[in-house]
Amino acid sequence: MARDRHAKGPEAEEEADGSSGSPPGLPSRLWRSIFRTPLTPRTERERKRVVLNHLVLHMRPVRVPERTIPFRHTFGLGGMSATLVGLLILTGVLLMFVYEPSPDRAYGSIEALRRNVRFGGLVRNVHHWSANLLVFVAFLHLLRTFFTGAFHGARQFNWVIGVLLLIVVLAANFTGYLLPWDQLSFWAITIVTGMLGYLPVIGEGVIRLARGGTEIGSATLINFYTFHTTVIPVTIVGLMAFHFWRVRKAGGVVIPREPADDPADKPATVLFVPSLLMREFVTGLLLVAAVMVLAVALDAGLGAPANPGMSPNPAKAPWYFLGLQELLLHFHPTWAVVILPGLALLGLLAIPYLRYDPPMEGAWFVSETGRSLAVAGALAAVALTPLWVLLDEYVIDWSGWLGGLPPGLSEGLVPAVVALGIIWAVIRLAGRQYGGNRQETLQAAFAFLATALVILTAVGVWFRGEGMALGWPWTP
Ligand code: HEM
Ligand code: HEM
Repeated sequence: MARDRHAKGPEAEEEADGSSGSPPGLPSRLWRSIFRTPLTPRTERERKRVVLNHLVLHMRPVRVPERTIPFRHTFGLGGMSATLVGLLILTGVLLMFVYEPSPDRAYGSIEALRRNVRFGGLVRNVHHWSANLLVFVAFLHLLRTFFTGAFHGARQFNWVIGVLLLIVVLAANFTGYLLPWDQLSFWAITIVTGMLGYLPVIGEGVIRLARGGTEIGSATLINFYTFHTTVIPVTIVGLMAFHFWRVRKAGGVVIPREPADDPADKPATVLFVPSLLMREFVTGLLLVAAVMVLAVALDAGLGAPANPGMSPNPAKAPWYFLGLQELLLHFHPTWAVVILPGLALLGLLAIPYLRYDPPMEGAWFVSETGRSLAVAGALAAVALTPLWVLLDEYVIDWSGWLGGLPPGLSEGLVPAVVALGIIWAVIRLAGRQYGGNRQETLQAAFAFLATALVILTAVGVWFRGEGMALGWPWTP
């Protein structure tokens, strides 16, 4: 059989073993010389190539649907998240050679790393920027999978794994934040662990568990360090393996379909090597280059050493929790920290399991109606969220107006019902304007909430000053 192929020449052999076919528009000789996988390797070089290609093809399929190849379908965001996790593990292990997890030495060890270790500052900066970018990129990836309807059928549970991954990524960032042991990190962790106290009944116990005592001290640092460098990375890698396996089981990423397509038609495919592998490789390289540029240009910084006796003003949570801290300024703490985020998380987990009529997947916003509804939801949030923040700061006085009610109702239930009522009214209005089935309507609500979260975070980062009062970012 193999001899027959050789007899017909290398082209026939490539066709038979499925290794020919360069991506359209690319010079085929170059790709073939790199990626050709001969069935019967004749030289040592060919043998090595076979081993490498087969290793790659054990993890990924031989052929992938052509329509999923263009960059704008996934923007490579899942692969970028994975690349950032890789960078974090690499730089994290290097940091462990120098970092000392004790309140007396942690700050000094990072100072020494920056001053005395060759490329120490750069390694730390790469860790810092990869960690922050990961939150951002994973959030964009969540938006991409949601707005291409990639959560139906075989992908249902992978959405849930994704949500778990996002939670663990936030936990990784949060536990890492304390490690430099400067004023910023010490007080940010004080604020966020303090928020846990609003959990009903178990609040105090949970704070004590997270801090390893009542105050932030050496037990907290050891707790955070152990979670950060062992439990969390192992969990992330395990979840990622599960996540990738589910993508594979679902037949790859969701396929964009045109309304006119016959669902029974088999999609045209191209070879994974090199069509997709090359694109993934280039995206990964560009991302690593971008992180390096950030790490060289912008230092992660190190404030004054932690001083448990003197809180900075304002004392802010890490940026990815500032939306939550902003909610605390507008709602009763039990609502801001427990009920509203709890409802949001449950809603997020429930998305794949709701009933859709019919489930729609593949294309961005799934339809023109879906696009219009999502844009309407996002624009409404751009207008209404800052308005709500301003009115609540300067005009609304829930507890004064509803003096007779307990604070859980006047500052919790009532504003929450009003806010949810406004969102419901916006969605109804948009629905009347554009129509739309259940999934398209859900996209409008999702776009509203995601945009509101981004705006609340931006308000927390740039527009909250001393005493958490509203102000311009440029006024001291
Ligand atoms: C998803 C994975 C990870 C995330 C999101 C993450 C995040 C962070 C963050 C935000 C910091 C504070 C950096 C700063 O000073 O601004 C940090 C520090 C640190 N991380 Fe990680 N990390 C991850 C994985 C790891 C791993 C796998 C290790 C080790 C095996 C590690 C070891 C360290 C060490 C030793 C520090 C203290 C040095 C420093 O603060 O600069 N990290 N991490
Ligand atoms: C560390 C974080 C994450 C990593 C490394 C990761 C990685 C990936 C990769 C590589 C893919 C396939 C290619 C792509 O879609 O770009 C994928 C697909 C997917 N991810 Fe993630 N992901 C992460 C977080 C999330 C989150 C937060 C969600 C949403 C809640 C999510 C939901 C999904 C879904 C539903 C798919 C299937 C998409 C489809 O079939 O089109 N992932 N992920």
